[in-house]
Amino acid sequence: MTVLVFLDPAHPAGRLVDAATPSLLATDQGVTRGDGIFESLLAVDGTPRKIQAHLERLAGSARTMDLVIPAAELWQAAITTAVTAFSASVALASAPAADAPAQCVVKLVVTRGPEGANTPTAWVQVSAISPALAEQRAKGLDVLLLERGYDSGISARAPWLLLGAKTLSYAVNMAALRHAHEQGADDVIFTSGDDLVLEGPTSSVLLAHISDDSGVPVKRLITPHLDTGILPGTTQGALFAAAKEAGWELGYGPVTPADLLDADAVWLISSLRLLAPVNTIDGKEIGTAAIRAELSEELSALLATTL
Ligand SMILES: Cc1ncc(COP(=O)(O)O)c(C=O)c1O
Repeated sequence: MTVLVFLDPAHPAGRLVDAATPSLLATDQGVTRGDGIFESLLAVDGTPRKIQAHLERLAGSARTMDLVIPAAELWQAAITTAVTAFSASVALASAPAADAPAQCVVKLVVTRGPEGANTPTAWVQVSAISPALAEQRAKGLDVLLLERGYDSGISARAPWLLLGAKTLSYAVNMAALRHAHEQGADDVIFTSGDDLVLEGPTSSVLLAHISDDSGVPVKRLITPHLDTGILPGTTQGALFAAAKEAGWELGYGPVTPADLLDADAVWLISSLRLLAPVNTIDGKEIGTAAIRAELSEELSALLATTL
């Protein structure tokens, strides 16, 4: 079941359309060139999570690619219309379990619009969350390191690469995931040409240490530095804020592949999957199963306070 609501000046609360009927022009530059941006966020019991952070990142991506997009209030209104319509159709289709929070995926998409028209096309899509994400959280992931092909300083030198913007051009990210699946792995961590850890195709990378080099207990979370051209993760940002309150030390990269292998735990984290522990990288185990499970439980509980 999918609900689509287009942002439309004639409909301030958004225009609900039949998702089974074509709604885009074939000349839309989002389709013909991948020229557009998006956000994916989680809604729990009808409330979109971290909405402000996602709308701010959407606006940042738009600035990076000189795209004029609808104002935040119009997105808010369309999201409310879409999530309400989705919840109503779920309630009609089945009685939701009383104790389980109802989760759904809210996608915000805006393209440069049809060729020659110079009017962005913008819509909100709401759909069910994939059960595979809960499985990734529970079982963890086997991950491959794959080269992204750029050095870590390219983002400042070549802003036209749009690194750090959440563009619709995710074909490379999806190809990297397919490559990993063909090798029997579940997911990917990209590295730069100068061998620094970047991010996953759809996630941020996080690592933890629970003792320092001389064995003294610490609680330290590290994520790669944003100036390596990675997407600023809203989940990583929210988790860092909660972890700081809980006494964790926080650090930003540079992170090398050796740092990942040396960590007590590594996770891929994002708005939809939340925290998925990494069991192995290139076949080498990260920490121990017991430590991964214990830290995942602690950090998932912290993350839940931000939801
Ligand atoms: C490339 C990339 N990095 C990081 C993330 C994590 O971002 P967030 O935590 O805001 O979902 C995503 C999310 O889809 C992503 O696509």
